[in-house]
Amino acid sequence: MTAEATQSDDIPSATAGQQRYTAIAIALHWAIALLIIGMIAVGWIMEAMPGGPGSPKIAIIQIHKAVGITILMLTIARIIWRVMNPPPAEPPMPKWQSLLASSVHILLYVLMVAMPLTGWIMASAEIDQHDTRYFGTFEMNVPGIPGLPAETREGMADGFEQVHSNLAWVIIGLLVLHVAGAVKHQFIDKDGLLARMAPGLFGRTAGPVDDGQGGIWAFGAAALIFAAIAGVSLSAPSAGTAPTTPAAEESQTPVSNAPAWTVDYEKSAILFRSGYMGQPFEGRFSKWTAQIQLDAAAPANPDKPIDGYIRVVIPMSSAQTGEPYYDENVGQGDWFDVAKHPEAVFEVTGGVFKDSDTQYEATGILKLKGVDHLVRLPFTLKIDGQTATAHGETTLKRLALGVGAETLTEAKGDAEYVQDDVLVVIDIVATRQ
Ligand code: HEM
Ligand code: HEM
Repeated sequence: MTAEATQSDDIPSATAGQQRYTAIAIALHWAIALLIIGMIAVGWIMEAMPGGPGSPKIAIIQIHKAVGITILMLTIARIIWRVMNPPPAEPPMPKWQSLLASSVHILLYVLMVAMPLTGWIMASAEIDQHDTRYFGTFEMNVPGIPGLPAETREGMADGFEQVHSNLAWVIIGLLVLHVAGAVKHQFIDKDGLLARMAPGLFGRTAGPVDDGQGGIWAFGAAALIFAAIAGVSLSAPSAGTAPTTPAAEESQTPVSNAPAWTVDYEKSAILFRSGYMGQPFEGRFSKWTAQIQLDAAAPANPDKPIDGYIRVVIPMSSAQTGEPYYDENVGQGDWFDVAKHPEAVFEVTGGVFKDSDTQYEATGILKLKGVDHLVRLPFTLKIDGQTATAHGETTLKRLALGVGAETLTEAKGDAEYVQDDVLVVIDIVATRQ
């Protein structure tokens, strides 16, 4: 059906004669355009925002992620609608212009998919960040990613963050060309092109070729994809949880065949050192258990890990600083939240790097307050007969681990209250079993 064009004196005939896009194409074009422009602005603002206590940064990132996933679903609907409903014939223009316009349109479609997808892959791969929840409801991750090994996910998150950030510039470049083209056509060529996408605002047009068909398919497919991914995410492990080896989790059966070591707890210690108002303080965990297997006799090789498995379980209520005031607070909600998360677990499943005869490095997952963090622990190890003496140190950022953030807010953001850096010192003496 071709709608009748009503001509009036103040509208150039070309404008009035142009057929416009279907209402659905127009609505999707502007909804997605506004959302994308808003997302770029918000993306940059949140990047520049300081994180930490009291900052709305995390809440804004969560909104950014949920709106981004929505854009992706709308884009899927739009592409299907576009395939089922070709746009009206374009106004006469030189071939190069028509080619340029089509190329920019295709690239814009590619970017409308790539931009949210790269962000979503990054967010699903991130281990330390907060789960991607759809507007605070259920978790939504790109299927398959939360199940990947922690190191692969870390690399993916870094790589895709770069791509996500760079693509914003690509989309801006395309948008400049796109808007320049639309404005040129509308105001220089006066061929009513802008009116095809914004009827009413830039002059009258003829109606669309027809009202279009396939809305059920376009929106139905997008809704189905959304539901399928939500379903997979709900049944898969959380993005914040790196995959733990089921054998190690369930039955405590070692995942390694390396010799086991029995820890002498009398001679071993896990200490933490930090600062309070500029004054250093030291604490220790009075209770913990460690399951250690390590093929310490294997030759050193910085490129390939030696066989090993480490699992340290620390009851958080055993943290002691020797200072009653700290000890009273340290188990509280905002610090270690002992009531909800009684234990912290550090587990190394991927073997241990032996860089030299005495220098080792273990990379594992520290599960603290229900969230997994990738932690590298370099340590020295000396073997004397059947006895091994290990010393390792690693600096953790307690705010990044979600420890004591609220307390800082109460203290009006005084970051010197308790220093962010916490040095964890591990001394272990063990005998070969
Ligand atoms: C991020 C923002 C935007 C994106 C991703 C975007 C994307 C697109 C795409 C993919 C098309 C091709 C539709 C098709 O034929 O399949 C299109 C058409 C169009 N866009 Fe945009 N657009 C954006 C912003 C804008 C803005 C700000 C304007 C205003 C100047 C505009 C004006 C138009 C016009 C007039 C058309 C129709 C062109 C024609 O009739 O051939 N767009 N847009
Ligand atoms: C069309 C959709 C999107 C646009 C235009 C967009 C744009 C941006 C921009 C411009 C930034 C700042 C980049 C920088 O300067 O480094 C950003 C950051 C970010 N985006 Fe998106 N984004 C989109 C979709 C998504 C989606 C779907 C997700 C996740 C589900 C996401 C997750 C993130 C995250 C987590 C950051 C912060 C990166 C960081 O950790 O520093 N984005 N986004």
